[in-house]
Amino acid sequence: MSEKVYPVRPEVAAAAHIDNAKYEAMYEQSVNDPDAFWGEQGKRIDWFKPYSTVKNTSFDPHNVDIRWFEDGTLNAAYNCLDRHLETRGDQVAIIWEGDDPSDSESITYRDLHERVSRFSNALKAEGVEKGDVVTLYMPMIPEAAVAMLACARIGAVHSIVFGGFSPEALAARIEGANSKVVVTSNFSLRGGKVVPLKANVDKALQNENAAASCKTVIVVNRVEQELPWVEGRDKWYEDLVAKASADCPAEEMNAEDPLFILYTSGSTGAPKGLKHTTGGYMVYASMTHEYVFDYKDGDIYWCTADVGWVTGHSYIVYGPLANGATTLMFEGVPSYPDNSRFGRVIEKHKVNQFYTAPTAIRALMQQGEDVLGDSDLSTLRILGSVGEPINPEAWEWYNRIVGDEKCPIVDTWWQTETGGIMIVPLPGATAAKPGSASRPFFGVQPALLDAEGNTLEGAVDGNLVITDSWPAQARSIWGDHERFVQTYFSTYKGVYTTGDGARRDEDGYYWITGRVDDVINVSGHRMGTAEVESALVAHPAVAEAAVVGYPHDLKGQGIYVYVTLQSGYEQSDELMKELRLHVRSEIGPIASPDLIQFAPGMPKTRSGKIMRRILRKIAEDDFGALGDTSTLADPTVVDDLIEHRMNRK
Ligand code: WTA
Repeated sequence: MSEKVYPVRPEVAAAAHIDNAKYEAMYEQSVNDPDAFWGEQGKRIDWFKPYSTVKNTSFDPHNVDIRWFEDGTLNAAYNCLDRHLETRGDQVAIIWEGDDPSDSESITYRDLHERVSRFSNALKAEGVEKGDVVTLYMPMIPEAAVAMLACARIGAVHSIVFGGFSPEALAARIEGANSKVVVTSNFSLRGGKVVPLKANVDKALQNENAAASCKTVIVVNRVEQELPWVEGRDKWYEDLVAKASADCPAEEMNAEDPLFILYTSGSTGAPKGLKHTTGGYMVYASMTHEYVFDYKDGDIYWCTADVGWVTGHSYIVYGPLANGATTLMFEGVPSYPDNSRFGRVIEKHKVNQFYTAPTAIRALMQQGEDVLGDSDLSTLRILGSVGEPINPEAWEWYNRIVGDEKCPIVDTWWQTETGGIMIVPLPGATAAKPGSASRPFFGVQPALLDAEGNTLEGAVDGNLVITDSWPAQARSIWGDHERFVQTYFSTYKGVYTTGDGARRDEDGYYWITGRVDDVINVSGHRMGTAEVESALVAHPAVAEAAVVGYPHDLKGQGIYVYVTLQSGYEQSDELMKELRLHVRSEIGPIASPDLIQFAPGMPKTRSGKIMRRILRKIAEDDFGALGDTSTLADPTVVDDLIEHRMNRK
């Protein structure tokens, strides 16, 4: 743990929306009188019909029921577009920076409103109705934001599948959400390479169940190049919007109507589609964006996430646009055309807030202190970090090289399930400690529990839970409320279980220590070890597979795989390669195993349960901490595992 404390500089506190006194007062009201607090904050959003009640929530495992502003009506796209037209119609809403540095575009609120309205009508013409799910499988192009907002405008529910996921993963999500329409692009461009995106949709729709629900594929023409076409099913985005009217009234939605589904990995089973609703989500996304990034009118804000992840939903699209901000959307990668790209983009667009992931910072850091070249970074005011714990070395580097020691760093802890930022040092209020996400945002009540569910007080380590509801919380798992209750509200009764461990220090700061379940975090991407295992055992050579995380310099955690082969198969480098490719094609490149160890047997209890704790320790190189192995059915397998542990730097 880092000992250093970086106090809030007085000039930063004076200029910020929230200083420490304000934080303390507002926090206290937010937890003591949530109805009054959120009733007031709810006004940052325009309602068609105002709410008369604010909070109506229960974490009781027999009746998990979460409602905010439940009798209010609104439209998320209206809040992101229409309400800004009068005051900021000509202001830039989205700055789009293409993969190629010579390719960029500025889209005003008026333009964006028109594009969204046209595509809304196009979706309607394709038969999409209020409540239908539309799957988006798109690169980082403006049409991704347009499609999200068009769904929201007509009351359809978007389900974005990250463009790096495989056809199999896409098919499962189309089927799971029973999605009628998929929006994609013919190709995507990343680091100068052309990636065939629609080809993956074609493959996904070879799956009968996915094909049974999806009858229409709308294709954005991103790269002029030939591609296979299914007549009747495939339609060009450009053709549809050209004939659509630019007048489309925003549908009146109830606060608790779904806005989007987003699939994420858990410790067991297939990825689950979290259901987020409209009212509370919009209030919270808007508020956190303004206060966490100290966003002020005229600022240029850049979040480097992909819209395929929750960060892209809340902090590229909904939060910033609800606030009338200028949000930058980047199609490319930090290493193209060279490693100075982030710096070049900051300089080119005069970025004021920059929000990225520790894995990106570590990758830059490896390239040396002059990695950003002579880029002028002087416009930067706030830096953000998200997705995994930021190690103090990376924090210090970020502070020095990117922030020039003058930009507060907001280390934001949150999850797909939470909808918005939960624990964070507010730039004008909270002294930073490198590596700590620090204090809860308004309305957020964290607690640490021991394994038995007892609340721990003071400076201590424990399981991080949240004891009461906040407005942006996911309401359910799409089509499976029971699984929602089981996953988040059953381990400990009456609270939301995050799945993370944390330590609280003497100052009440939270330090996230990582997942306490079988979820690993690879370059900030969440992955269930069970998912990778089930991909592996689907390969004919694999009898049994166990997957654990291990510390990785760049990725935070790497994927370590133990494989027992079916008899008749020999271990070889070729087979190792093949297994790697197999996982990539089942899930996607982000799930590609880093290390594969062939093992004659797994450490199992006498009842046949694999003891992952032991596998984890071996992968971590921590042989001294294996603990009691005497309960194993065959303790000698451990010696073999240790002897053949993969060599790594
Ligand atoms: C981890 C991403 C430490 C954590 C927004 C969480 C973090 C999971 C941080 C959620 C942070 C995210 N410090 N750990 N600042 N931010 N995490 O759903 O383990 O993709 O449970 O949401 O990432 O990942 P998800």
